[in-house]
Amino acid sequence: MDFRSDTVTKPTQAMREAMANAPVGDDVYGDDPTVNKLEAWAAERHGFEAAMFTTSGTQANLLGLMAHCQRGDEYLCGQQAHNYKYEAGGAAVLGSIQPQPIENNPDGTLDFGKLKAAIKPDDSHLLAPSC
Ligand SMILES: Cc1ncc(COP(=O)(O)O)c(C=O)c1O
Repeated sequence: MDFRSDTVTKPTQAMREAMANAPVGDDVYGDDPTVNKLEAWAAERHGFEAAMFTTSGTQANLLGLMAHCQRGDEYLCGQQAHNYKYEAGGAAVLGSIQPQPIENNPDGTLDFGKLKAAIKPDDSHLLAPSC
């Protein structure tokens, strides 16, 4: 087992067979039973009305930010956050959303005091964090 990252994990033979044999369809029309099942399972498991399958974590993070922020907004995140450090600045490049990185605690968590201190006042000259 290699726990450096989910991205180095290789599928087992059973996983490959499940993928190859999965019923498929056009997801745009809602005709992919496997995607429909996965989305229904994820929504139920996390207590949401609906869920959406994305093809990568980077895509999911970007969609999440863009769903919550408007152009010119700012989001608070950890200096070590994947979406800040490793995702090619997608939020800024594609969403016009500026990150405001906060130093992470040694265990990776974020200090609420530091987060609160980084929230800018509601002033049209400043960015207004909304996510
Ligand atoms: C926490 C976290 N977010 C996002 C990603 C990006 O996922 P993807 O490589 O599927 O874009 C990774 C990838 O390892 C991750 O560990």
